[in-house]
Order: sequence, then C-alpha cells, then structure tokens
Amino acid sequence: MRRLAKALATLLGIVVLGLVVFTIWAWRSAIAPIAPPVATSFDPALVAKGEKLADAGYCLTCHTPPKGKPYAGGLPMVTAFGTIYSTNITPDAATGIGNWSLEAFSRAMHEGVARDGSHLFPAFPYDHFTQVSDDDVKALYAFMMTRPAVAQAPPPNTVPFPLNVRLLQAGWKLLYFKEGRYQPVADRSAEWNRGAYLAEGLSHCGACHTPRGALGAEKQDAHLAGASIDGWFAPALTAANTAPVPWSAAELHDYLRNGGTAYHGVAAGPMSNVVHQGYARVDDADVNAVALYIASGNGSADRKADVGQIVGDALARSRYDASQAGDHGAALYMSACAACHYNPSSGPLLARPELGLKSSVSAPDPTNLVQVILHGVSVKDGLPGTMMPAFGTGLSDDDVAAIAVYLRKSRTTLPPWNDVAGVVARVRGGKTT
Ligand code: HEC
Ligand code: HEC
Ligand code: HEC
Repeated sequence: MRRLAKALATLLGIVVLGLVVFTIWAWRSAIAPIAPPVATSFDPALVAKGEKLADAGYCLTCHTPPKGKPYAGGLPMVTAFGTIYSTNITPDAATGIGNWSLEAFSRAMHEGVARDGSHLFPAFPYDHFTQVSDDDVKALYAFMMTRPAVAQAPPPNTVPFPLNVRLLQAGWKLLYFKEGRYQPVADRSAEWNRGAYLAEGLSHCGACHTPRGALGAEKQDAHLAGASIDGWFAPALTAANTAPVPWSAAELHDYLRNGGTAYHGVAAGPMSNVVHQGYARVDDADVNAVALYIASGNGSADRKADVGQIVGDALARSRYDASQAGDHGAALYMSACAACHYNPSSGPLLARPELGLKSSVSAPDPTNLVQVILHGVSVKDGLPGTMMPAFGTGLSDDDVAAIAVYLRKSRTTLPPWNDVAGVVARVRGGKTT
C-alpha cells in the first residue's frame, strides 16, 4: 500500500511539474498597446506593396463576411472543433488591431500569438504565414493600419471546453507547427523560389489542397495531394491531378489570372475567391512564379506532347450518339445543358467549358460537379461576366445524379462513381462532409 501511495504521489508530482513546465513554456506575454498610428505616417509605396501582398494572401476573403465591411471580421469558419469567427483587423483600437505595434502584428503572423499573448487557432493560416519575410509583414502592417477603422467585435466562438483554452493551442504548435521564414532552395531559379515562397507562405495553397489529419494539421507526406474543403474538393496539384490536359505553367497562369482556361474549365467555389480576391490582382510576375513552381512538381512538362490528342478525344466523346438513346441522364443533358456546353471540332471555347476536360468529371468523387449543377456559377465567380444557371430548383436529386452519371460514363473511361445520389443529397443539404 505504502509503495503504491508513493508511486501515485510521484506520478502526481510528475504531472503537476509537467503542467507547470508546459504553462511556463506555452506562456506568451502581452505586447504593450500603442496609440493607433496615423495613416499618413506610412510610406504610400509601402502601403501599395502591402495591398498586393494582402491580395496574394486573400486576407479580405476570410476577414469579411458576405455584405460585411472590408476586414472587419466576423466570417464564421465551421471546423470539426466548433465555429471560429475571423477577427476585426481594421485599425479600430477597441475591436480591431488599432493598438497593435508592428512587433505584435509580426508575432501574430509568424507565431500565431495575439497581442495580449493568447495563442491563435490555426483557422488563421499562421502555419503558412510564418514563412513570410519580415519586409513583407511590414508592408502588410502598413496596408492594414491605413484601412478605414470599423468598430465591430466578432461573435463569440463556439469551440467547446477544453479546446477553447487557448493555452492548449501551444500543444498543437508543439506537435505540428514549425516557425520560420522561407528558406530558398539553392539549386532552383529565383523565379521558382519566388513561386514557392508565395504558394507555401502567403497564398497557403496547401491550406485547402493538402489533406489534414485528425487534429486538423496538414499531412506533410501528402503535400498538395487534394482535400475536402467547405463542401468542395480541392483537387491534387501534384502528378495525381486527374484533369486530362496537363496543368502546364501557362495553363496555371491563365487559370489563376482569369478564373478559367478553355482546356481546364473555370475556378468555382472556394477557388473563385483565390482568383478574384487574389491572383486576378497580383503582379503578373508573381502569378507566373507560382504557376512555374506548381508546374515543376506535377509532371506536366513530360506530358506536353499529348495535348492535341487529348483535346481531340474529349471533343469526340462529347458528341451525342444513337447508343445513348433511352439514357435518362443523356436526355436530360441534351435538353438542359448541351446548348451551352457544345463546342466546334476546331477546339473548345473559354466561355463554354468542355466538360470532358474538367477535372470535376474525372475526379475520384462527383462533389464539385454536383455543386456546380445545383448552385450554378455566378457572374462574379469563374469567368467574370459569364454565368452558368443553377439547376437546384429545376431538377430533382435523381435528375442531377443521372446527369453526373451520364457525364462520367460518356466523357471518361474511368469506373463509375459510388453513391452519386448520396452526394447530391449531401451537397443540397449544405453538409460539408
Ligand atoms: C483562411 C482564413 C484566413 C485568412 C486567409 C486570413 N485570416 Fe487572419 N484570421 C483568421 C481567423 C479565423 C482569425 C482568428 C483566429 C483566432 O481567433 O484564434 C484570424 C486572426 C488574424 C489576426 C489576429 C487578430 C486578433 O485580433 O487576434 C491577424 C493579425 C490576422 N488574422 C491577419 C491576417 C492577414 C494580414 C491576412 C492576409 C495576409 C489574414 N489574416 C488572412 C482567418 C484568416
Ligand atoms: C480556400 C481554399 C483554396 C485555396 C486557398 C486554394 N485553392 Fe485551388 N482549389 C480549391 C477548390 C475547392 C478547387 C476546385 C474548384 C472547382 O472545381 O471549380 C480548386 C481548384 C484549383 C485548381 C484546378 C484543379 C483542377 O484540376 O481542376 C488549381 C490549378 C488550383 N486550385 C490551384 C491553386 C493554387 C496554385 C493555390 C495557391 C496559390 C490554390 N489553388 C489555393 C480551393 C482552394
Ligand atoms: C445558359 C448556358 C448554360 C447552361 C444551360 C448550362 N451551362 Fe454549365 N456553364 C455555362 C457557363 C457560361 C459556364 C462557365 C461559368 C462561369 O465561368 O461563370 C458553365 C460552367 C459549368 C461547369 C463548370 C465547368 C468548369 O469548367 O468548372 C459545369 C460542371 C457545368 N457548367 C455543367 C453544366 C451542366 C451539367 C448543365 C446542365 C444541367 C449546364 N452546365 C448547363 C453555361 C451553361
């Protein structure tokens, strides 16, 4: 008995000591508040540079809910651990970051720690922003501090106890977070390194395109391998991508810059913001650098020669033939879709996506295709100024499923999808997983 009591006491001692050590280690002190800096105290050239960087990091997308004031926060982000609201990052002193010094702002970007010393949730992609250079963080700070101040506090988060204890985020960081600026790769060109710097850091492509593990960290061994995000699927950006035409640097450039290409279709869903609140506005040299970096890792250079053949095959497959008579999906497609998605044999047109070339038809599951059929592509998404009507009210779940099944069967030689009707019901219900 005595021995057991002693062992238990020792164990308790170790646990308490562990907690004390953890708390000391995890503790971050507050950084003293400052009087909000005057907007004219910032060099306009630095502010302009910061604006481009803010675009490349889509700060607006996450920090502005639909119809909300720019950067005033309050966008709900639904995670497996509860809803987290983005914060107000305008220079309002009481509810925004008006009394944050550059030092406090840098610590948030690089270490995920707020001015008051509390740890931030990785819904804020500081695990990528840690790679952003000190100079670029300084420019971002100048841009944010010169936005109109908006007094508006975000709604309280719904993360349950004990996960809402911010100190515990330090444990997550210990397991998954590596602080540090981007380190250039020596045997790569300056342009490649610029692309990697942006894609891995500020533009956090992996936050959507890399699958996450049980505790929500990106799986390092599946970098950019494709992942579910907000009810969509962000396809693989590696050689595992299923789009028939390879994603060359030129195709990637046009897609990121314009929101679509004739050989790959349009950027819809969450990718639309990446384009229209991001890459449509950043300098062309940077769009090219990111395209070059992504293309260097996807094997597209080796497949260049096949493009003519692939496009020809896709156009041939999209022709209706008599063997499809009696197929409910084919009949629906002919009446509801074909008029807009028919291309001449000379080649596909940008504003008439050739569906057999789109990775949503060759993807492992029909989520993205179903999203577009049910909800359409609005004028502001995809290609600016063009739209695809939503069929969610006009077509039943069975009809939508029949069209998806028909497209998979006629446009690809891949095995049929499982449970298409289940995916339609899930997407219609707004469920994210
Ligand atoms: C993917 C969504 C997302 C993007 C993109 C994003 N943020 Fe945030 N950000 C958040 C969320 C969510 C929080 C709140 C985290 C928390 O409460 O722990 C946050 C918090 C912050 C904070 C801490 C503010 C505070 O009051 O504690 C700063 C500073 C910040 N973001 C700046 C930026 C900047 C600058 C950019 C663009 C370079 C950016 N964010 C892009 C989601 C995002
Ligand atoms: C907010 C989440 C998000 C971020 C950040 C993001 N993507 Fe995407 N991406 C998506 C989704 C979702 C799709 C599918 C869109 C569709 O089917 O229309 C997509 C599609 C794509 C495609 C088309 C793939 C295909 O085969 O059709 C490319 C290329 C792409 N993204 C590149 C990038 C790059 C490069 C970055 C970083 C600069 C990036 N994405 C950042 C969510 C994201
Ligand atoms: C009125 C013309 C029109 C009709 C009818 C139409 N579409 Fe579209 N569709 C478009 C346009 C235009 C786009 C590109 C939208 C954009 O970029 O804003 C598009 C985009 C798409 C996309 C996304 C393609 C991509 O590249 O990401 C899919 C998938 C799609 N349509 C499928 C269908 C299906 C299936 C039907 C029938 C149920 C249909 N469309 C009916 C015009 C149409």
